[in-house]
Amino acid sequence: MKTLITEMFGIQHPIIQGGMHYVGFAELAAAVSNAGGLGIITGLTQRTPEALAAEIARCRTMTDKPFGVNLTFLPTVSSPDYPGYIKAIIDGGVKAVETAGNNPQKWLPALHEAGVKVIHKCTSVRHALKAEAIGCDAVSVDGFECGGHPGEDDIPNFILLPRAAESLKIPFVASGGMADGRSLVAALALGAEGINMGTRFIATQEAPVHEKVKQAIVDASELDTRLVMRPLRNTERVLRNAAVDRLLEKERTLGANLKFEDIIDEVAGVYPRIMQNGDMEAGAWSCGMVAGLIHDIPTVKELIDRIMAEAEGIIYRRLAGMGHS
Ligand SMILES: Cc1cc2nc3c(=O)[nH]c(=O)nc-3n(C[C@H](O)[C@H](O)[C@H](O)COP(=O)(O)O)c2cc1C
Repeated sequence: MKTLITEMFGIQHPIIQGGMHYVGFAELAAAVSNAGGLGIITGLTQRTPEALAAEIARCRTMTDKPFGVNLTFLPTVSSPDYPGYIKAIIDGGVKAVETAGNNPQKWLPALHEAGVKVIHKCTSVRHALKAEAIGCDAVSVDGFECGGHPGEDDIPNFILLPRAAESLKIPFVASGGMADGRSLVAALALGAEGINMGTRFIATQEAPVHEKVKQAIVDASELDTRLVMRPLRNTERVLRNAAVDRLLEKERTLGANLKFEDIIDEVAGVYPRIMQNGDMEAGAWSCGMVAGLIHDIPTVKELIDRIMAEAEGIIYRRLAGMGHS
C-alpha cells in the first residue's frame, strides 16, 4: 500500500509503532521495521544521550530498514538533555523522529538540516495546525481512545480525524484505538495516510516486556481503562488496577487541592517495575481502550501481515462489492 506516509518514511506499510516508555526498545522497533512498518525507539527510556546512541546502534544490528526515535518533551522542572538526545539521533543516522508533548519548534532546524522527517503527535486540531505552521512534516492525531496522554479535549477519532482532514495540509496518521485492518481502512476513509499503534504492539511476541503485561492487555476489555491525573491537567489513560483505584480515590477526596506529591507512589518510577518485573499492581501504566480488541499475542510480522490482508479484503472485496456493477 502506497500513501504519503509510506513515501515520506520509505516504508512498505502505513503502520507506525508509537513511542512507549519502557516498551520501545530496539527489539520492538526492529521487529516493526523488519515487518515493513516504522518502528520507534523511545528516546527518554534511555537515561542518557550516550545510552540512546547505543540503543540506536543496537537497533541497526537488528534491521537494515528505516526506524525512528520518539522524543517526548515533558513539562518537567529538571529538563532532560534534549540537545544531547537530538545529537545522538542525528549522529546515529536516524531519519524519522516522533515528537510528543511540548512544541518541538526549537529542534526542527537541526533535525531538518540532517534530513530527518518529524512527525509530531498531538491530540487536537489546534495543536496539529500549530505543528504544521512550525514546519513539522506530518502529524500523528491521537484521539480520546488512546493509551497514554489524550489531552483535555476528549474528542474521539470519529470526529477528530475528519476534523484534522478538513484543516491540515500536511499528511497525518490516525492514532488511538487502532488494532486491525478495520481500523486501518476506517482511518484511511477518514482522511489519514496510515495508522499509529501503541497498546496493540505491546501484546506481541517481540515486545520486550514481562509476559504478565501482554496477558493483562489480552484479558482487559474496552471497559477496563481509567483516566487519571485529570485534576492536574496531565490526563493519562491507564489500565485499571488496585493502584489506579487508590489514585482515583485520592483525586476524589482531595479535589482541587490535589498535588503531584499526593499521588507520587502510584505514578513515579512505575514503568520499569511493571514492564520489566511484571509487578502488575505497582502503579498506573498507560493502556488504550483498544485492549478490548486485542485477543492474542502474535509476532509483529503476523500482526502487520494480518492487518494488511484484512484491510485489502475490506477494500477490494467488502467495499468494492457494495458498488454498482
Ligand atoms: C505503555 C505506553 C507507554 C507510552 N509511552 C509514551 C511515551 O513515552 N511517549 C509518547 O509520546 N507516547 C507514549 N505512549 C503513547 C503511544 O505512543 C501512542 O500514541 C498510543 O498508545 C496510541 O494509542 P493506542 O494505545 O490506542 O494505540 C505510550 C503508550 C503506552 C500504551
